[in-house]
Amino acid sequence: MSILDSPQTTQLQLRPGIIELNWGQPDPELLPKEAVSSAAAAVLARVGGDALSYGAAAGAGPLLAWLRAHIAQTEPQAVAADEIAITAGNSDAIDQVCTLFTQAGDVVLVESPSYHLALRIMRDHPLRLVPVATDEHGLQVELLAQTVHDLQRAGSNVRMLYTVPTFHNPTGVSLSAERRLALVQLAQQAGFFIVEDDVYRELHYDAPAPPALWTLAPRGTVLRLGSFAKSLAPGLRLGWINGSAQQVRRLVDGGLRDSGGGVNHLTAMVAGELCTTGGFELYVQRFRNAYRERRNALLAALSEQMPAGCSWQVPAGGFFVWVTLPAGLDATALLPHAEAAGMAFIPGANFHLDGRGSNTLRLAFSLYPPQELVHAAQRLGKAVRLLHA
Ligand SMILES: Cc1ncc(COP(=O)(O)O)c(C=O)c1O
Repeated sequence: MSILDSPQTTQLQLRPGIIELNWGQPDPELLPKEAVSSAAAAVLARVGGDALSYGAAAGAGPLLAWLRAHIAQTEPQAVAADEIAITAGNSDAIDQVCTLFTQAGDVVLVESPSYHLALRIMRDHPLRLVPVATDEHGLQVELLAQTVHDLQRAGSNVRMLYTVPTFHNPTGVSLSAERRLALVQLAQQAGFFIVEDDVYRELHYDAPAPPALWTLAPRGTVLRLGSFAKSLAPGLRLGWINGSAQQVRRLVDGGLRDSGGGVNHLTAMVAGELCTTGGFELYVQRFRNAYRERRNALLAALSEQMPAGCSWQVPAGGFFVWVTLPAGLDATALLPHAEAAGMAFIPGANFHLDGRGSNTLRLAFSLYPPQELVHAAQRLGKAVRLLHA
């Protein structure tokens, strides 16, 4: 059997000769292989079969205890024991929230642009997704208020907002402090809840991340989704949700966990061991250093290589640079030229529900070392100049 016949192991598939800045994934070279291996050995030696049994419905106790201590240390509010549960990562949590907290026909508000794969998850549910524009300060909360008002007047049940307020995917922007407050107030007044996808919180490169929405609102207003996908490793398939005790109980008492127990119990036990022995801080710091260097390399190369009329904002965290091309230059039409030059990106229209953003594109700087990012920027600049003579 040749390697070409072997079944695929990872989601990531790279094409030879193309620097693929379309994948928003951590660099496998940076992932904590040895630390996971020794944590797994330690936990199996200590707790044996309990690590391989069905787990407690809310999630593995040691990991929950570490998370609560970590949140109490790094965020302005602590989480009570009944306000948090382990999830299988944010994708799983979004799906579960839609299953348990929405009904067919409900309106779900989303940012435009929004994380395109969250849109796919929500589209698996019979919901009505309504986009609201963002700008350089994040979601336009006044526009959101108007949209909610109009929808409610027309008799729609505005149920939830899905948002990535910190180091946004795809724009890299964090919602401003004023808008954070205005947003949680609006949610309370208008009676919808917020799903805060906080997947990039730990990956800050200039200053700590702004306070999460869930710390700014009374319990019940915000369900915050945290994930180990970017702060440890996506293959662990682990994250957490925090909300009101009532919301968390709904999840923990659901049929999924009643049948299968706490999700990904073995990996949660391994992650608990890794985190309680100092591995989390160690690796997060390494990731920050590596990704900061990559971000800076890409930004510097873009400044050198991109023709006049192109612009972007400096992301203070996360994985992405969002580029705006000169008006009229279509990123979808640009892509084959960029690939022919040896690099790839995701056209911005993929992150909108309604075809907006045709002159924008997303670059991920997480997967490649700095020198490759410089080459990618050179190739992108070349392709843009070709089309925008
Ligand atoms: C905004 C956002 N949410 C969720 C995810 C996926 O999270 P998880 O791996 O925890 O399912 C990603 C990954 O790219 C993301 O960018």
